[in-house]
Amino acid sequence: MSKEQGILNFAVLASGRGGNLLAIIKAVKAGKVRADLKIVISDKKDAFALEHARQAGVPAVHINPKDFPDRESFDRAVIDRLHESQVDFVVLAGYMRLLSVHFIQQFHNRILNIHPSLLPSFKGMHAIRDAFDHGVKVTGPTVHIVVEAMDDGPIIIQEPVRIEPDDTLESLEEKIHHAEHRIYPQAIDLFARGKLKIEGRRVIISA
Ligand code: GRF
Repeated sequence: MSKEQGILNFAVLASGRGGNLLAIIKAVKAGKVRADLKIVISDKKDAFALEHARQAGVPAVHINPKDFPDRESFDRAVIDRLHESQVDFVVLAGYMRLLSVHFIQQFHNRILNIHPSLLPSFKGMHAIRDAFDHGVKVTGPTVHIVVEAMDDGPIIIQEPVRIEPDDTLESLEEKIHHAEHRIYPQAIDLFARGKLKIEGRRVIISA
């Protein structure tokens, strides 16, 4: 994917099946995300996300946390790789590791994450199940800027997903993933085109 003038470079960090990554790759190819995906990095060798990247011709790199004594030195290796690829911003897509403070500072206000609940409700690893078990009538994904506190940070886009009486946990998961694949590319495109202004906790989106 060649670099046009003024187009920002980004990386995706992923640990799992890579559904969001695939949606992002498709959106880049369709010109709906106007940014250049330079590299996909995973902490898991067998992450299907790496396969999606390879199939799309995007450099796919596994960095093994076990090769490093602690989180910070692992993160430094990831950061080095991001700098080598001249990445301007970072997109987390099912990345199952907490970022070190150093990482977050290096890419201050330039890291995006997607979480499968309407934050600040249902933070944590089991957000879809927790919302379902709680009996809420509306849930849905959130794209936000990453800050030091987990599942926190200025909110860019949320999409409400209704939980209907006949929904099961599985059908709800499917609806939320569909919504994620719609809003994450939108949020990345807005970010990449400089359409987001962060004012405290608020993100102001300009047309
Ligand atoms: C998504 O539900 C996302 O919200 C959460 O992790 C999941 C990743 O799924 N952070 P995938 O690997 O993108 O399919």
